[in-house]
Amino acid sequence: MSERLQIPSHGQPITGLEPAQTTGGSRFLRACLRRPVDRTPVWFLRQAGRYMPEYQAVRRCHSLLEICKQPKLAAEVTITAAEKIEVDAAIIFADLLLPFEPLGLDFEFAAGEGPVIHKPVRTGEDVARLRTDRTEELAYVAEAISHVVAHFHDRLAVIGFCGAPYTLASYMIEGGGSRNYIHTKTLMYRQPDTWQRLLDKLVTVLREYARQQVDAGAHCIQVFDSWAGSLSVEDYRDFVLPATKTLIRDIQALGVPVIYFGVDTASLLPSMRETGADVLGLDWRTPLDIAWRSLDYACAVQGNLDPITLFAEPDLIRRRVRQILDQAGGRPGHIFNLGHGIVPNTPVENVQHVVRFVREYTPHEVSTGTRHG
Ligand code: CP3
Repeated sequence: MSERLQIPSHGQPITGLEPAQTTGGSRFLRACLRRPVDRTPVWFLRQAGRYMPEYQAVRRCHSLLEICKQPKLAAEVTITAAEKIEVDAAIIFADLLLPFEPLGLDFEFAAGEGPVIHKPVRTGEDVARLRTDRTEELAYVAEAISHVVAHFHDRLAVIGFCGAPYTLASYMIEGGGSRNYIHTKTLMYRQPDTWQRLLDKLVTVLREYARQQVDAGAHCIQVFDSWAGSLSVEDYRDFVLPATKTLIRDIQALGVPVIYFGVDTASLLPSMRETGADVLGLDWRTPLDIAWRSLDYACAVQGNLDPITLFAEPDLIRRRVRQILDQAGGRPGHIFNLGHGIVPNTPVENVQHVVRFVREYTPHEVSTGTRHG
């Protein structure tokens, strides 16, 4: 294990991560662990996606699920995107909803509508029917990861991922995306035992799925709780935090750092921190320095450029990138990213500019803000 970049996130000495031999992979992992780095590591949520012509070309011949289920193709899409924009980490090409199939839920990506789950989960019987014994059917994701790791070795960190219990439960119960999460919250409030059983089943499957990814060589796991921001702090703490914390701790016990990410989470951040995640992903609505301070700097942070800033002129993009880096102030434990995923039609060259701006950033360019040691 010491030969790999996969490192224990807690308590054990780190080998192969000395600054002298810095690679994108070690730079990223050192930042996850709040160790000093030569420069801030950078990658992007949805870096392999529809904004990229190479991805569109693959999509013309294959559906999203076909790409996910053909490990060589999924690996190629992952690698092409990471190399084109020259980031420090590659997130495996997969989708949040893949675990629904072994659980026994059919779904599809309807054109223009996002995911549709054909028979949403609404009752205790629906939850009882969910299967937790077929997670090995997801092995194609782990296989794709092993191809990506074989390609990059330790040059780039390879990030595996899964959904968080709340966000996945919301898709299962609503039957797709949602504005008000009425079915989800109704089940949560009125059938708390059923809710608990659903989350327990999800944790069982997700823990095993993450284990497959780490065994295949993923250096880090990101847990997407994209819609956690729909919850009040009280509901998050009562109904969501315990299962999420169990999942995150179980993944860390596999020996990799965990990034926990949600959108619209400013008021939830201190509670999300209680999961023990090594890194919290920040959306763009709260300035990074304020968000990090609200966490007492007790974990690393990832973010937080507004993805729509990528439609601006390079000068404005550069200014915003610098502001975020100034807010991080050189404190160990910042990973540069967007506050949410790259959207379709984003100019690829602006994504590449961001990587260049992060690389070029040096402290004497700081015009405002305070720097910490
Ligand atoms: O580089 C990468 O990040 C790509 C890998 C990736 C995909 N989905 C591929 C994908 C990742 C990390 C995801 C995660 C995912 N999937 C999330 C969490 C991230 C987030 O945005 O908060 C969620 C909520 C999903 C579920 C999902 N998948 C939705 C809501 C949609 C439709 C979105 C849309 O704009 O149509 C998808 C489809 C999807 N998954 C696409 C991609 C590249 C775009 C559709 C396509 O190529 O046909």
